[in-house]
Amino acid sequence: MKGLILVGGFGTRLRPLTLSKPKPLVEFCNKAMVLHQIEALAAVGVSEVVLAVNYQPHIIEEFLAKESDKLGIKITTSLEDEPMGTAGPLKVAEKHLNDGEPFFVLNSDVTCDFPFQAMIDFHKKTGAEGTLLVTKVDDPTKFGVVLYDDAGKIDQFVEKPQEFVGDRINAGIYLLSPGVFDRIELRPTSIEKEVFPVMAKESKLFCMELPGFWADVGNPTDFRSGTTLKLASVRDAAPDTLASGESFEGNVLVAPDAVIGKGCRIGPDVVVGPGCVVGDGVRLVRTTLLAGARVGSCAYVSDSIIGWASKVGEWARLSNGCVLGEDVTIKSEVYATGATVLPHKSVSADILSPKIVI
Ligand code: GDD
Ligand code: MG
Repeated sequence: MKGLILVGGFGTRLRPLTLSKPKPLVEFCNKAMVLHQIEALAAVGVSEVVLAVNYQPHIIEEFLAKESDKLGIKITTSLEDEPMGTAGPLKVAEKHLNDGEPFFVLNSDVTCDFPFQAMIDFHKKTGAEGTLLVTKVDDPTKFGVVLYDDAGKIDQFVEKPQEFVGDRINAGIYLLSPGVFDRIELRPTSIEKEVFPVMAKESKLFCMELPGFWADVGNPTDFRSGTTLKLASVRDAAPDTLASGESFEGNVLVAPDAVIGKGCRIGPDVVVGPGCVVGDGVRLVRTTLLAGARVGSCAYVSDSIIGWASKVGEWARLSNGCVLGEDVTIKSEVYATGATVLPHKSVSADILSPKIVI
């Protein structure tokens, strides 16, 4: 079996992190976003994953070359000369993808427990041409909304509806039979607007409700809430991989080589990346420290993302959705709320209301 991951776009909503690396390589819970997906595909026997890229292919290729050996899975990139949308890339990669078997297609910014084997079984059982995962959200307007019957047969697929249609949405994870290639022309085109509505009309599109959590982690707010959901799922599936001890509260993931000082209170919902150094008496809440970040003694950081190799000074206080790019310095005792700081900047004055530091 094969799989394709849609890795296009510039990841602008995840800036300033995506100023340093392409979105699929940004670590979510200490693992590149795309690796969560590739590992789950490999686990159900997918032998080749095609990454449909229109931006920075070399960086992605270099990173994945190493992973490909480790996982024993072939990873290729399919480069578009111009952005081909969400269906065009399937046609571009048809010769790699089409081996006569159904294949997986994933949006690169979604995460869940990836029930791929259940999708394969369901797809066989229904004889569908396409099987989608659906999940329930509070605000369906940003998504593709799906209406379906008790058997999972989709009657209607409406991308980004302006008026309320339903609250079950396309989770961005599909299993498609090769017949779909005949429906796609070699041009920029949207699978959600031009392909799925037609398949639904022909009763060839089915869906499965996603058990467990789902998150689109393509912007900092969703990245943080997605981290909370993912860590809760890790708590159920592999509790031993989470940190334990008197410094930790709730679900906390700490890379094995990270250094944590004395008298800290860390958690809930905190991720400490590889090579991070956390000083004594630090308080961290709902925060991700990306690789190599350092937090000085007695600093307080909540609801924030601290970029690679950034430094938060002693007694500094960051809260309310701060996002620091790579190699940012926050001087000692600085207070910042809702600050977005571009890579390599140094902040020495308080930031009292949300702003972007460029
Ligand atoms: N290769 C390639 N080329 N990939 C692309 C292109 C392109 O031109 N344009 C978008 N993509 C990729 C994005 O990187 C992402 O992985 C995926 O296609 C979907 O694009 P988004 O821009 O993230 O779409 P969305 O989040 O607004 O909506 C999509 O995802 C929702 C779930 O998060 C749709 O599939 C919705 O129906 C769905 O509910
Ligand atoms: Mg998206």
